[in-house]
Parts: sequence; structure tokens; C-alpha cells
Amino acid sequence: MPYRAHHILDKCTRCGACTEIVACPGSERDICIGCGACALACPNQAIEMVEEDRKGKVSIEVNGKEAIVSEQISVKEALRELGYSFTDLPDGSGIFAPCQVGGCWSCMVEIDGVLRQCCVTEAREGMKIKTGPFVDEEPRRIVINYMGHTVGGVGTPRNIRKNPTDIIEVICFTAGCNFRCPQCQNWEVAYRGEGTPTTPKHAAWMLWMRSMEFGVNRMGVSGGESTLNRPWLIQFIKELRRLNPNSNARFHVDTNGSLLIRDYIDELVDAGMTDIGIDLKALNTDTFMRITGLEDRKLAQKYKEIAWKAVEHLTQNYKEKVFLGIGIPYNKSFISLEEIGDIGKRIYEIDPSVQVCANNYVPHFRSHIFAPTSQEMRVVYDVLKDTKLKTVLCQSPSGFIGL
Ligand code: FES
Repeated sequence: MPYRAHHILDKCTRCGACTEIVACPGSERDICIGCGACALACPNQAIEMVEEDRKGKVSIEVNGKEAIVSEQISVKEALRELGYSFTDLPDGSGIFAPCQVGGCWSCMVEIDGVLRQCCVTEAREGMKIKTGPFVDEEPRRIVINYMGHTVGGVGTPRNIRKNPTDIIEVICFTAGCNFRCPQCQNWEVAYRGEGTPTTPKHAAWMLWMRSMEFGVNRMGVSGGESTLNRPWLIQFIKELRRLNPNSNARFHVDTNGSLLIRDYIDELVDAGMTDIGIDLKALNTDTFMRITGLEDRKLAQKYKEIAWKAVEHLTQNYKEKVFLGIGIPYNKSFISLEEIGDIGKRIYEIDPSVQVCANNYVPHFRSHIFAPTSQEMRVVYDVLKDTKLKTVLCQSPSGFIGL
């Protein structure tokens, strides 16, 4: 059954997220195709998706075959009506569509010779859709905010954070995320579908230009979730490496780790990745679900396991070659100090020398949580230090503890 977005007016603050961040596919014609991107992106939960009985049909062509589907639905839903399946894991069981807001371009299809995201494109009468191979195989992704950074990310080594005002790396942000964290710290990137998609070559060139401008030799990518579109990320890192062949150059990926299976990590290292930050979120699946906003327990468990295994794979196989930093979220509203200690112990068992940074999760997006105080983060620091981990950092309102 098709859906339609219903605005709950007394929750809406007119913040503009549903028009300025979201690539609303129906905005031009003032219709709703029920893609749900606005409901995912609304920071006030002021949009709910309601089922709508639509009798109208359109005829389209998919991979050379004619087909009839419901009118005013997304190409993704049209494909689903025709028996195509979609997946949250790039395991070959269907078309990978992890963000559902148009940011990651993993769900790319070719429509009348033009590449588009199927999740936020309307299926219209007469369209000719191809699910592959495409006229142009270069991956795309929405990337924003190529900037100099004074702090870096989870995968930035402590010892280069000397002066809080120095630019230590340049970074860009990839749109789209597979998590739905209610306290998302970067939701305007995570839910962005608006904007021109960028090829890996162009994004690498833009970031490299920034590195020249700021005179730094560290280049990073964060998000959103940077790993969603694997071909894009691999080509991006390779191109950065090609543009900057200097052996001292560092290429840094910050990620939630949920898609980093072994061969993806191997491919990233081969491409030139030298530094990685993995935000592990939790040890316990209930905590992981609370932090990530994921409701599918099996999927949450799978994502969590992949991230922890990624840490093991990196420490066992790339200790000399790749700098690894691990992020742990802290806010007493969703994770206990006991679990923080257990995470620290588990990391210690894997590798006591890995850099661990607890991040103070503050109220962003939909959460009504209170930001942790400096005193609370000091306690988190002490809990992690008690596990005997060698390098512990804690973000706090008064700056990094342990720097
Ligand atoms: S799933 Fe369609 S763009 Fe990310």
C-alpha cells in the first residue's frame, strides 16, 4: 500500500529540515510519493507516514520489460511491487538501500539514461529504468563541507592535537546514514538528500585543494556514514592517494564500522587508508539499539558484531600500517558506567594500546537528554583508565580529558 506524509502541525517548528535538507521528490508538483525521507529527517518527529489507497497506475519499463505499478510512488517502491528486494546490508540479497533519504546513492539506478537514487525519485509514466549495468559506472555521493578541522575525528591520533586552534586535518562529510540515532550529532549531513552528487574524483580533488590551502597532509572523510557506498569510498581514497603520493600523507576514515567486513577493510587499506576511527556505540544489543535508534534487533546485532570484528581485524592485521582510534558514546541517559567499563575491558583484551575516546553525547536531533558535565566525563575517563587501556581521551565541556 502506498504511503503519504502527514504533518503533525502542533509538533512542527517550521525548521525547514523537510524542505532544505531532504530531497523531496514531490515538491515540484506539490504531491507526496510517500518515500518517507522527510519523516526520517524531521528533528521534531512532526511527520508520520500514513497508508493511502491509490487506484491510479503508471506503466514503466524495467530492465527492458514493461510493467504496471501504482502511481505516485518512488522508483524503489515500484521495483518492490515488481518483486525486487532491498537490503540494509550489502550482502547481495537485494539492492542495497541503507539511508533512504537520497544521500548515499547506494541505491543508484539509471532512469531514461540518467543516474538517480531510486529511494527518492518518483516512478512516472513511460520511464525506462535499469538496475544495471549503467551508462556511466562512476559512483556518486552527496558530499558537503570540505573544511579544515582543529580537532579531527575518532581516528585522529592524540599526539597531533597540540594546539586547539591549529588546523590539523582537512575533512569532508558524506551524506546518508544507516543508523537513526535519536541524539545524532550531525543530522543535517546524515539526512541530507538535497544537493548535486559528487564523483570520487571530484570530491578527492576538492579535499586535496583544501589540504593545499591549509598546508596539512592529513585528509579525512566522515559523515553521515562514510562507508555506505563502498565503490565510492574506495575510489575516493585511491584518488586522494594519487593526488598526494607523499609517503607522510595520512588518509583518514571515520565510521560507525557497521559495514566493515574483512574484505572491505582490506580493500580500504590497499586503496591507501592510513587512519581509521570506529565509533563502537555499545557492547550490549539493547544499548546499541537505544543509541542507534534501530528497531530491527537482528540487524542491530549484525551491525554491532561487524563493527567489533572490524576492530579485531584491524588490530590483528594492520597494527603497523593503520592507526586505529575507537569512539565510545557517553550519556547517562542511554549507557551505564558499568557498560563503559565492560567496553574498555573488551577493547583491552583485543589490544590495550589502541586509542579510545569517549564522546560526550549532547542533545541534538530528537533526544531530550542533558549533556554530560565535565565531572561526569571525568568519571568516564577514570572508569576507562581503570581497565588499563594505555590511551584514553574524553570529550568534555571543558575540553579533552587525557590530552
Ligand atoms: S538508500 Fe537511496 S540514496 Fe541512500
